[in-house]
Amino acid sequence: MTTAQFKVDDNVAGFQGDLLVFCVNQAETKEKIVCHHLVENQVRAAFDLGDFSGKEGQTLVLYPFSGTGLTDVRAARILVLGLGDPSDQTEPGGVRDLFRRAGGTIARQCEALKVATLMVALPETSFLDPGQTAECLVEGICLGDYRFVKYKQAQSKEREYSGLQQVCLARVNTDPAVETGMGLGRRAALAACEARNMANEPANAWTASAFAAFAQALAKTHSLGCRILEKSDMERLGMGGILAVNQGSGEPPKLVVLEYLPEQRSETLLLVGKGVTFDSGGISLKPAPGMEKMKYDMCGGAAVLCAMQAVAEERPDVGVVAIVPATDNLAGGLAVKPGDVIRHFNGKTAEIVNTDAEGRMILADALAWGIDAYHPCCVVDIATLTGAVVMGLGHHYSGLMANNETLARCLEQAGERAGEPLWRLPLGKAYAKQIESKVADIRNIGGKSAGAITAAAYLENFVGDTPWAHMDIAGTAWDFTEKSYVAKEGPSGIGVRTLVALIRTWPKGAMAQPL
Ligand code: BES
Ligand code: MN
Ligand code: ZN
Repeated sequence: MTTAQFKVDDNVAGFQGDLLVFCVNQAETKEKIVCHHLVENQVRAAFDLGDFSGKEGQTLVLYPFSGTGLTDVRAARILVLGLGDPSDQTEPGGVRDLFRRAGGTIARQCEALKVATLMVALPETSFLDPGQTAECLVEGICLGDYRFVKYKQAQSKEREYSGLQQVCLARVNTDPAVETGMGLGRRAALAACEARNMANEPANAWTASAFAAFAQALAKTHSLGCRILEKSDMERLGMGGILAVNQGSGEPPKLVVLEYLPEQRSETLLLVGKGVTFDSGGISLKPAPGMEKMKYDMCGGAAVLCAMQAVAEERPDVGVVAIVPATDNLAGGLAVKPGDVIRHFNGKTAEIVNTDAEGRMILADALAWGIDAYHPCCVVDIATLTGAVVMGLGHHYSGLMANNETLARCLEQAGERAGEPLWRLPLGKAYAKQIESKVADIRNIGGKSAGAITAAAYLENFVGDTPWAHMDIAGTAWDFTEKSYVAKEGPSGIGVRTLVALIRTWPKGAMAQPL
């Protein structure tokens, strides 16, 4: 995770660091190239040779020693980066994601060139205001500067480069929105990188207790409220879902709660994240190939706790509470068995037909208890819930299901803003019918078809009339669409920036109004 300092410094020629970056839009002809006068001749020469046209991701590294015509530059190197065509952004995320990707490409070049001190001349564009341009660039740089090397030996090649130390943005005119934007980008990205760190930890290190310890530490740093419900509390409260999932494990479960409840708040949002620290499937055991990936089954929980980090730093005037039901799903001698019947916090009983459908079981208790305890204006849950959503949407969109149009739209917009697109799937009686049980109120699987929706239909039983949205991130929490700022493999940190965007743009009072 980047430890870099970020600041504004408008003196491009005076910068004496490792790398100075200029961005260039794609141009059809040499004459149409618009770029900083310091590199204009070089860029045009490269265009003539067919080496550079400003296509997205194209790079040109220049060395300004005497005789190159770049003698006004004191940086060790110059990077010219192609931005592509900002007027032609049809993909989700639009022009904001273009600048985020530019930031990611810059971070990758910094790694290749072992750059510690970086300056980027903030590109001017008519498609985005300078504040948002700075926000997205910095977000992309921070996300792209992420690496997880903690378990590599100190002398290993992975540890040779320790990332960016200083990042300066140089503006054309002294717009104060740039500094604000940098802060927004940095806080959102660092929160997402924290979520990647949690996910990268192996399941023998990242246990339910680790979730609890993280929350307690965050609460202490930022004076948030923190409650940890222990197994005995769950027993007293009748949280039969999380207790059942934990039955086959030697590791105690935790229900982790972080509260940001400012006194002047008008309403409170509730976030609930699935925190299964390892999903073996339980008695309905998963196949061995790829099972190691199931350490990532806590990415929803990571997303809500890490979003709280940004919330704590930004202190909005709405309340936000995050809850993570945390446990692993193992197959010890006391494990829950197919056919067992359990009772959830709200009294509903469920027939457990498949112990691998455990996410909905722990979320059910957390949703019902959270709504009961905090009376939120709405609740959003996020979970690596079903393989079915991966079949339907692949690795490029997360699934979105909701009982409220306004909330669904707010989330779609937040996801678009964050470059983490969501696609809505329906809910309804016909799907609820698929999870009817002969012996209990409901059963925990709904047959072969519409698996992502029947999982949501299970959750719907635990939210009552509260506006609720469910994000299924099983396809996007890792192996997310490859981008310069998202590694091809490993956790993406998905959801953190969407939730942060949702809270930043929250339309107060909207949930109370009919659409
Ligand atoms: N954690 C898994 C879902 C998952 C699968 C996430 C693949 C990422 C990749 C979840 O707990 C699960 O096992 N779901 C089952 C439900 C089924 C038994 C109804 C699934 O999707 O196969
Ligand atoms: Mn499972
Ligand atoms: Zn799972």
